[in-house]
Amino acid sequence: MRVLIIGCGYVGFPLGVQLRKDGHEVFGLKRTAEGTETWLAQGIEPLIADITNPETLASLPTNFDWVVHAVSSSKGGIETYKSVYLDGTRNVVEWLKGSGLKKFVYTSSTSVYGQTDGSLVKENSPTEPATETSQTLVATEQLLLKAHQEFKFPALILRVAGIYGPDRGHLFHQYLKNEARMHGKGDRIINMIYLDDLVGAIISALKGGRAGEIYNVVDDEPVTQLHFFRWLSESVGKYMPPAASEEEIAGRKRGLTNKKVSNRRLKMELGYTFKFPTFRQGYTTEMIRLERAGKLNITHDPR
Ligand SMILES: NC(=O)c1ccc[n+]([C@@H]2O[C@H](COP(=O)([O-])OP(=O)(O)OC[C@H]3O[C@@H](n4cnc5c(N)ncnc54)[C@H](OP(=O)(O)O)[C@@H]3O)[C@@H](O)[C@H]2O)c1
Repeated sequence: MRVLIIGCGYVGFPLGVQLRKDGHEVFGLKRTAEGTETWLAQGIEPLIADITNPETLASLPTNFDWVVHAVSSSKGGIETYKSVYLDGTRNVVEWLKGSGLKKFVYTSSTSVYGQTDGSLVKENSPTEPATETSQTLVATEQLLLKAHQEFKFPALILRVAGIYGPDRGHLFHQYLKNEARMHGKGDRIINMIYLDDLVGAIISALKGGRAGEIYNVVDDEPVTQLHFFRWLSESVGKYMPPAASEEEIAGRKRGLTNKKVSNRRLKMELGYTFKFPTFRQGYTTEMIRLERAGKLNITHDPR
């Protein structure tokens, strides 16, 4: 297949490497030529364009079989969010419309589920998030589903949980730096996915996913903050994090969701089997990697 990865970063790059290994022809799209030597060394052909600027897309080829849309807002604010996700996706659809594309996979987020009651959420659960960033993702999903309904644009949506893997994983790294805090009783649930399994799930979706459908991409074990830190604490041999102050809790409250995201569709319909079914396998692998690289510097606090 001829595959284009729009946004070839933390997720897109290893995806490209895997697709090359599987024998596909792979192109990656980014805004500047910076760093493309690494892509070329892996056989990934760079295309330079900015999806927020349709003129830069116009001169590029459109003859792809599969497209994966995995750009991020590069930590920008709400305006960047809207311009990259919503306007950018609209531009991409316009650009690829009528091109003979067979499958278009978009990496949305489980943050579209705004539930705060710890309930189990499935792909057909309500998506009414409180934050403007997550509302932008909902609007982007709707744009793609509408394009599928109106002119059979072959889009499908993956709602991706918190990504962790080599050098990525917010709570884990906060914990190692003694910056993690326990919020309340620690009963908020965290949903995660290891990088390699996200790459695997994207490939499964390209091969077997149905256009117009939504699939959650999350591992087998949604876990409370308390249980996550307890496991880390036992594995690393370091104290549990201290409780968050009133101010810290107040500062983070808005938009904090609490839900268990179901992966049943991913497993039953796409037949996906996890390499890292839970954070235990994933973070054990990451800790071994860090330790071997001499980077697991545990600073025991003096309590
Ligand atoms: N982090 C999470 O836990 C999480 C959870 C759920 C879903 N996701 C989603 O997963 C996807 C992949 O995330 P990631 O961590 O791999 O992101 P990433 O490392 O930041 O990579 C995204 C790439 O997009 C490119 N890009 C940004 N703006 C662009 C534009 N206007 N035009 C063209 N390319 C552009 C950037 O390349 P250049 O700067 O070189 O242009 C960057 O390499 C994103 O859609 C993200 O929203 C992430």
